[in-house]
Formats: sequence, structure tokens, C-alpha cells
Amino acid sequence: MGVPFIVFAGSFPRKNEVKIAKQAGAKVLCFASTESIATRMIDYGADALILEGSEAGGHIGHVSTTVLIQQVLFKFPEIPIFIAGGIATGKMICHLFLMGASGVQMGTIFAMAEESPAHPAFKEKFKTARAREAFATPQYDSSLPVVAVRALKNKGIEDFGNLQLNLLRKMKNNEISRLEAQFQVENFWIGALRKAVQEGDIERGSLMAGQSVGLINEIKPVKRIIEDLICEAKEEFLNIKKLCT
Ligand SMILES: Cc1cc2nc3c(=O)[nH]c(=O)nc-3n(C[C@H](O)[C@H](O)[C@H](O)COP(=O)(O)O)c2cc1C
Repeated sequence: MGVPFIVFAGSFPRKNEVKIAKQAGAKVLCFASTESIATRMIDYGADALILEGSEAGGHIGHVSTTVLIQQVLFKFPEIPIFIAGGIATGKMICHLFLMGASGVQMGTIFAMAEESPAHPAFKEKFKTARAREAFATPQYDSSLPVVAVRALKNKGIEDFGNLQLNLLRKMKNNEISRLEAQFQVENFWIGALRKAVQEGDIERGSLMAGQSVGLINEIKPVKRIIEDLICEAKEEFLNIKKLCT
């Protein structure tokens, strides 16, 4: 269809998938949450990376943005890299540019924008939440691998813990296969996110949020969010310029 950019997100593409996307004439952007995934995506021919640290909201990896910056951003200056995870200020954007980033990707700040279709109760919860409340779910046993999800702590997170323990028990008793258990884990998040975002059930639903939630305490229109970020970033650039002259 001639789209200029293709972003592989949610999982990691195979080499052939990157090749097909590039053959269609698109620039290809791939997520990376570890140094080895970043290296693999570059090998596959990715034109740019979205380097996402574990501070981010939703499904996450285990390495922080700070460490990924040093492992990947500083190591591959030739490839455009967009940084994600824990960013919610223009000041931070300015410093990431100075470190060599080509841009940033932000999720939590836009989930609570005025135009976001999320339920008002979901956004209100985000407004007052602190960074430490954005909690990453644990994996209880390696026989049931689960991708960590960062969300605000509530009954839904407890439900997820209990679901994992129940599934592990059923697997041990050969009542269900590992594949079925993993399917139920993923299904939990789809249902739970809908419960919170659409129905406003902030107790049992999933409040996927990054630690950056602690930096945001206002519901604003997207236009103002972007204008404020740019204004703050520019101000920081000028302050640094003054320091250097
Ligand atoms: C509510 C929510 C849902 C998200 N859903 C997805 C998703 O479906 N696919 C994806 O690749 N990233 C998803 N993300 C991650 C964002 O794309 C982004 O990388 C991340 O939010 C950046 O970190 P931040 O939350 O600190 O800004 C989601 C993030 C949030 C907060």
C-alpha cells in the first residue's frame, strides 16, 4: 500500500519479515528491550530502533532505560534510535537528544490526554498516581513464562497473581498444557485492559501505566502536551547553550 514507515511492535519480527517490509519500500522501525535484541534487529536490517526501558507502561522488558542507553544508544550512533520508557518532560527529551537519540516515544502521557478514549475514572486514577505505584508483575515459575506488565497496583494485579498460581497448579496436575496456560495469561490482560479503559473498572481492570505516571498530574489536550514538551525542551537547550558559552 506504499506506507512510508512500518513499526514492528508487540513482538519481534523475523529476518524475512523485515526484508519483506523493506522490499515494499518502507523504512522499518523495530522495538528493542535488550542489547541482544537491538543487535539482532540491526542485523536484520532495521532502519531505526525504538529502545524501550522497563520503566515503560504495558508489556515490558527487564532492562532500565538508563542501562539500555549506554548499551545501545551510545554503541550504535549510525542508526536512528528513539528512546521510550519513563519520559514525560521536555527537559528529559532535550537531554536524550544531546545523548544522541533521534526522538522519543511516550505512552503514559498520551493515555491520559483529553482526546484519549480511556474512561474518565482511568485518567483520574493516573492523575494522582505516584511513580512507585506503577508496578511490574512477577513471574512465579519458569515453567509458565509470562511477559511482565507494568500497571498501577490494584485488585486486578492480585487477580493476575492468583491466576498464575492456579494455572501452575493445573499444569502440574496435567489438567492443562503450557500453551493453554499462556493463552489464558494473555487473555487475562486483553480482558482486564478493556475492563479498565472502556468500563472504568479501576479496581479489577488493568491500569497499564509507566513509572512516568508519577510525573504527570494534569489531563491536557494532545496539542498542549506537545507544545509544553517542545517549549520545555527548547528552554533546556538554551540553558545548556548559556552554560557552554
Ligand atoms: C496503556 C498502555 C498501553 C500500551 N499498549 C501497547 C501496545 O499495545 N503495543 C506496544 O507496542 N506498546 C504499548 N504500550 C507501550 C508504549 O508504546 C510506549 O512504548 C511506552 O508507554 C513508553 O513508556 P511510557 O509509558 O513511560 O511513556 C502501551 C503503553 C501504555 C501506557
